[in-house]
Amino acid sequence: MRNDLAKIIIDEETIQEKVQEIADQISKDYKGKNPIVICILRGAALFAVDLIKKIAIPIEIDFMAVSSYGDSTKSSGVVQIKKDIDSDITGRHIIIVEDIVDTGLTLKYIDEYYEKHNPKSIKICSLLDKPEAHEIDIEIDYKGFDVGNEFVVGYGLDYAQKYRNLPYIGILKEEIYK
Ligand code: IMP
Ligand code: MG
Repeated sequence: MRNDLAKIIIDEETIQEKVQEIADQISKDYKGKNPIVICILRGAALFAVDLIKKIAIPIEIDFMAVSSYGDSTKSSGVVQIKKDIDSDITGRHIIIVEDIVDTGLTLKYIDEYYEKHNPKSIKICSLLDKPEAHEIDIEIDYKGFDVGNEFVVGYGLDYAQKYRNLPYIGILKEEIYK
């Protein structure tokens, strides 16, 4: 898999340090609040698992699966819920954990969907952000790293379902997309 990458842009140690920082901040902000951490499958799975292990306060976890991409590298803008959460979020503090914010359309949809169930608060945590690609205003409360407007893989992020199990984040060689 490493041979398919043109370069590594964020190495494993740098990711883990950042995940610890975000976890520490969440532990501080949510002390005594028992939030529900919602992992957006499949891309955020690796990040969410590392993150919750580092959070030092009681939390609950849940999972939601959405798809917006198919196997292409461009957002379709159409979000489909493949698996909903099982928790009752009414009156609860929730933290949505995403892998990456690209156009922002996926998170906007999820945020509005949860809003209807009257949670006490909603915050967004995303490992990566592509600020240049946003098509709407979106506020990320806990953010790992900004990346440029190019397609990245690894640490949960895929290209055609591949490369999710790389422990770092990189950019694929041009010829892989052909
Ligand atoms: P958005 O709706 O355009 O913000 O897209 C969000 C989703 O698209 C993310 O949760 C990812 O699953 C996927 N995505 C966006 N950019 C990338 C990328 O560079 N690599 C892999 N997946 C991406
Ligand atoms: Mg995703």
